[in-house]
Amino acid sequence: MAERANALSGRDWLKNSFSIWRNFDRDGNRKSHPASFPVSLAQQILSCYARGEESVVLDPFVGSGSTLLAATYAGMRSVGLDINAKYKDIFIDRLDMISCPPNGGNDKKWHYEVCDARECSAFFSVVQTESVDVCITSPPYWDILNRHRTSDEKKPISYSNSDSDIGNIDSYDEFLAALGDVMENVGKALKDRGYLILNVMDLRKGSVFYPLHQDSVAVVQQRSDLVLEDIIIWDRQKDYNQMRPLGYPYKFIINKVHEYLLVFRKCKN
Ligand SMILES: C[S@@+](CC[C@H](N)C(=O)[O-])C[C@H]1O[C@@H](n2cnc3c(N)ncnc32)[C@H](O)[C@@H]1O
Repeated sequence: MAERANALSGRDWLKNSFSIWRNFDRDGNRKSHPASFPVSLAQQILSCYARGEESVVLDPFVGSGSTLLAATYAGMRSVGLDINAKYKDIFIDRLDMISCPPNGGNDKKWHYEVCDARECSAFFSVVQTESVDVCITSPPYWDILNRHRTSDEKKPISYSNSDSDIGNIDSYDEFLAALGDVMENVGKALKDRGYLILNVMDLRKGSVFYPLHQDSVAVVQQRSDLVLEDIIIWDRQKDYNQMRPLGYPYKFIINKVHEYLLVFRKCKN
């Protein structure tokens, strides 16, 4: 008999199979990291794409560690990488805040490495090739956080001033190439049939629209054995407030309140 894909009941399988996901609880982390995703989002992804406790989880842009927390809650081993040591401290604080993860305890199953995820030597010193079942990650959205936001007038915030931070790359093509370097490493790290869930959103700089989700699909497929299998829309409308009517009254412009969860699977043959 074929092996089960996950432990979901039929009811939850159906619920999670709808292509729009929404209403994830925030855990109060947004003040300490400028662009974290909710732990509950990573938990839902793992419930669909990971088989169980024996699964190994990776996040090469792990930030404040939401992916590692979700894996720890589920009793899975996990590895996270981030260029910014400050975010590792935030992750450690978050670990302390969660009340006794079921399988966290003394049996530490996570590893957080402060390094440049593009560097093969650093990457493969903590992640073995063909060892990962599920990679969940949210790269910087180009250098957009460094810029003034017209939709709700939020102040610019950046992850760091580091040249190794790919969120500080000014050229879109160079940013995509840097993303490709990391995705190539992820492709090698995944087991055959393993999953990558890549969280991105489309961007606008001035009057130019950049379809980052579409360009990310091209980059991932060019640089690895990963193939796009699905697209989930993450509806974030309730996270946005104080929105302005963009372009009013001269040009109608859409306010983006959704992100993408691009689901890739490694297919060697
Ligand atoms: C969108 S945030 C990820 C947030 C994370 N999902 C969380 O919940 O906290 C992107 C992260 O990529 C990191 N980053 C940027 N360039 C990097 C690089 N070259 N190698 C590893 N991490 C990098 C940034 O420091 C930032 O924390």
